[in-house]
Amino acid sequence: MSSVDCSPGTRPRTYPRIPFRSFGALKYDIRHAALVENRKRTNKARIQHKRESEKEQGLSQLEIKDLHASIEGKEILKGVDFQVKQGEIHAIMGPNGSGKSTLASTIMGHPKYKVTKGDISFDGQTLLNLAPDARARKGVFLAFQYPYEVPGVSLSTFLRTAYNSVRQGGKRGDLGQEMVSVLEFRKLLKEKLKLLDMDDSFATRYLNEGFSGGEKKRCEILQLAVLQPKIAVLDETDSGLDIDSVKIVAEGVNKLVGPEMGVMIITHYQRILRYIKPNHVHILLDGRMVKSGGPELADVLEARGYDWVKKEALN
Ligand SMILES: Nc1ncnc2c1ncn2[C@@H]1O[C@H](COP(=O)(O)OP(=O)(O)O)[C@@H](O)[C@H]1O
Ligand SMILES: [Mg+2]
Repeated sequence: MSSVDCSPGTRPRTYPRIPFRSFGALKYDIRHAALVENRKRTNKARIQHKRESEKEQGLSQLEIKDLHASIEGKEILKGVDFQVKQGEIHAIMGPNGSGKSTLASTIMGHPKYKVTKGDISFDGQTLLNLAPDARARKGVFLAFQYPYEVPGVSLSTFLRTAYNSVRQGGKRGDLGQEMVSVLEFRKLLKEKLKLLDMDDSFATRYLNEGFSGGEKKRCEILQLAVLQPKIAVLDETDSGLDIDSVKIVAEGVNKLVGPEMGVMIITHYQRILRYIKPNHVHILLDGRMVKSGGPELADVLEARGYDWVKKEALN
């Protein structure tokens, strides 16, 4: 049998025939395609896994090592060791005058506090030679640092300026990024106000002018939401926080904390820890971290006060 018509007067007609070796090639093609597909899939899974573990390892960390700090020649911090990573909540507790606010201010680089020994580092790089604004640009943020009134400056203007200087690197080009426009920022602010269940009109108020205690706290939480620091240091002042303010702070922090943000809550009272569950609790006493534990440590402090810690520290 031939596939070629050889009758007279006609041109031989050839029918396309798939050469035998092509079957092999086709078969190879199909197998090869499946192999390639499979390899792509495993590679994708491998890359995904690698990215995830890299992300885990790539969490930013604030580390404090044997920190000694003094004010006006008087040593307040006498060897503090402490670490906080993104995604973790640490509570620093301690009686009045133990050095909690000093620790917060020293982390942010307040010029009044002199570091005499030890180190504060972020992602392995020392912060000691950096000014407060440079520390903020690294992603370390001391909330509640603008309690003063600024008449004539609206909260939204203040937040946009802070956002541009912290997130965008100050003036245009500093970090190779441009400042956000008023319109872009308005969109971001609206999102954050919604997230925190705050009224849009709140952002048009003048900074802290006539703000109630609760409103000041809302303003501070909004700062945190807009600036999105990697590590937030919250220094709860020891006096004057009514229960509503405590709840505002706690609810805000709970909404904002996540894998991207680590929090250091500094507090004298256990109260706020009823609403925010820390992963770790540390006790600062006379400029030293004398005890660390899980959230149960806060319950023990509420039940027994600080005296037993003082006695234990003396022995
Ligand atoms: N500006 C200052 N001048 C002198 N001493 C100060 C100053 N600020 C704080 N101190 C002292 O530092 C110690 C720790 O204060 P602080 O860090 O505010 O403690 P806490 O926040 O735990 O109550 C206290 O003994 C306080 O008197
Ligand atoms: Mg204090």
